[in-house]
Amino acid sequence: MSYFSQSQLKLLLLCKEKILYDSTYRKCNPLYHSFARRRFVARIGRSRDDFKYVVKFRGSGHGTKMLISELIGGVVAKLLKLRVPELVFVQLDEAFGQTEGDEEIQDLLQGSRGLNLGLHFLSGALTFDPVTTKVDGLLASKIVWMDAFLTNVDRTVKNTNMLMWHKELWLIDHGATLYFHHSWTNHEKQALIPFSLIKDHVLLSFADQLEEVDIECKKILTDEVIRELVNLIPDDFANWTEDSETPESIREIYYQFLSERLKHSYIFLNEAQNARKTFI
Ligand SMILES: Nc1ncnc2c1ncn2[C@@H]1O[C@H](COP(=O)(O)OP(=O)(O)O)[C@@H](O)[C@H]1O
Ligand SMILES: [Mg+2]
Repeated sequence: MSYFSQSQLKLLLLCKEKILYDSTYRKCNPLYHSFARRRFVARIGRSRDDFKYVVKFRGSGHGTKMLISELIGGVVAKLLKLRVPELVFVQLDEAFGQTEGDEEIQDLLQGSRGLNLGLHFLSGALTFDPVTTKVDGLLASKIVWMDAFLTNVDRTVKNTNMLMWHKELWLIDHGATLYFHHSWTNHEKQALIPFSLIKDHVLLSFADQLEEVDIECKKILTDEVIRELVNLIPDDFANWTEDSETPESIREIYYQFLSERLKHSYIFLNEAQNARKTFI
């Protein structure tokens, strides 16, 4: 049985659409320049509701596949009751970035007109430091389990992609999950990979309740929930249609990948447990 009713799920997953306006974007963004200089795909925008958002641009290197990774990763984390910033769809206004002086950034912005993805900016958050901050075993296990499930290669000591905000651990940057979609072949086989890179997960040594978490997470991520999850992918993101593929058939492949991976979760669970033995 699902932990969420259909309507609860819709509420939880509902991403509001925001419009970013060029005039406010410039004036209100002290972080804009430092982000831009470092060529982050994420930049700060400001929408009419007065919250700031980190924007993941469809015009960046990995295009809309990266946005799908962010969307699925962020929503799965939310479903598992992990802390992630609010996710919103961001519609970039035609005028957005027109006054941008840097040509490269101008290209990025122009290539990003239309639907993008934003995350609530956690003002004053600090990068998580695994040396100074210990993480509870249950929480660490959930995060490790989720990253093994979604094949997230980007939660390492070097790059934790976690922030401390109001003394709580928050997850950001799910852009490197689901890397099977970059080759987009043989998803049946790729769904069953053990994911050996879990050995580099920054929280692996704390994750002492993986088996319990596996049972718990699978109760939440029912077939119905996975279906709803992939249905969140907008047509506009599922737009790399080669051959006869349609947004519908692309969503179906994500559904199959995720549901097969869950059905065989013992494969990635064993891999993570074996990798942990090197710490014990
Ligand atoms: N929601 C957020 N709130 C506060 N800071 C953020 C947020 N998202 C990203 N950042 C900051 O921006 C950096 C880069 O963002 P990230 O999403 O990790 O993109 P990437 O690693 O692909 O450049 C993060 O390491 C973090 O310091
Ligand atoms: Mg990052």
